[in-house]
Formats: sequence, structure tokens, C-alpha cells
Amino acid sequence: MRTSYKIALASAGALALAACQRAETPAEEATEGSAPELALPVPINAAMVGIVDQSADYIWAVGNGDMPRDDHDWDLVRGAVYDMILGGQVIQIVGTGEYDAQWVANPDWQRLSHELTEIGEEALPLAEAKSEDVEAWRAIGDKLVDNCLQCHDMFKPEVPSQGILHESTERESLGVSIFD
Ligand code: HEC
Repeated sequence: MRTSYKIALASAGALALAACQRAETPAEEATEGSAPELALPVPINAAMVGIVDQSADYIWAVGNGDMPRDDHDWDLVRGAVYDMILGGQVIQIVGTGEYDAQWVANPDWQRLSHELTEIGEEALPLAEAKSEDVEAWRAIGDKLVDNCLQCHDMFKPEVPSQGILHESTERESLGVSIFD
């Protein structure tokens, strides 16, 4: 699992590079006085793997009782929570992926993406308070799982989204902390 996860990240990086060469910055095309049209320089899939998936791992870890041990660990958790808040917005912006435009135009996509932001907002007070209330973190983690699965069922049925959960479950079953 760990290996395929790394490969997914590496290929997202490669896609990002390829995308850079292709995409002229939208700002260059903007007419004077108008706000530049926003576009991601990478496919939404890269934002999904690089932002959403990464940050979910921290939220799930804490919900499973893998508690931060010092301020540095809590910084990682708070950063992950901000990433989730932002990630839910970023994946509503069209990038260079083949289906990006079609996805972001779909109301279900918009709703489920926005829900990621809301779930992150719900986690923020816990992260800021360095809360060790495992039940509260777990409740947020459960909402997240539900959200990921719903969207993957709708938009990416061919990929077993449980695979993502297995990755962190495997780490936990081995007793390896996300903070190690
Ligand atoms: C708004 C819809 C949506 C939500 C919400 C969503 N995903 Fe995704 N996700 C997708 C789609 C669509 C793809 C496939 C993108 C592609 O293939 O270009 C994807 C791909 C992925 C991938 C890469 C899979 C691969 O085969 O490379 C990972 C990892 C991932 N999502 C994790 C998550 C996690 C974790 C969550 C919840 C915290 C989540 N996603 C929430 C729509 C969503």
C-alpha cells in the first residue's frame, strides 16, 4: 500500500510538471482591470492526492488515537486541517485534468467539495485547542470517510476508494505513528 501511495504522489508530481509546460498563466490573458481567471496549473487529481488525501491522513490518525506528542506534531495537525479547509475549495477550480471542467460544473461535486471545507472548519477549533478528545476527532474522521466514499462512488467508481483507508489502517495496525 505504502508503495502504491508513493507512486501516486510521484505521478502527480510528473503530471504537475507536464502541466506547467502546457498551461499559459490565465493572468496573461486577463484584460486590464478584470480579476484574473483562476485555474489550477495541475489536474484536480493532483490536488486531491497532494492536499486532500494527505490532510485526511492526519485527521484519521488523531481520530484513531494516534495523538500528537508535542507542539511540532500539533502544528502538523493544524496545517492538515487548514489544508482540508482549502482543499475543498481548490478542487472546485478547473485544472489541467481531462474531466476537471465537467466535474466542477456538477452540483454534487460542488456540494461534496464544499463539505470537505466544512469538515475542516469543524476540526479547526479542536486543532487549535490541541484537543485530545479522541471521540470528537473520530466523529469528524467518520464524516470525512463518508464524504470521500460518496464522491468516489459518484465520480470515480472504478477505483476502490477503501484503498485509501487501508493505507492508514495498515500503518496503524503496525503500530506506526503518523508523527514518527
Ligand atoms: C468532490 C469529489 C471528491 C471528494 C469529496 C473526494 N474525492 Fe478523491 N477523487 C475524486 C475523483 C474524481 C478522483 C479521480 C481523479 C482522477 O482520476 O483524475 C479522486 C482521486 C483520489 C485519489 C487518487 C486515486 C488514484 O487512483 O490515484 C485519492 C488518494 C483520493 N481521491 C483521496 C480522497 C480522500 C482521502 C477524500 C476524502 C477526504 C477524497 N478523495 C474526497 C473525487 C473526490
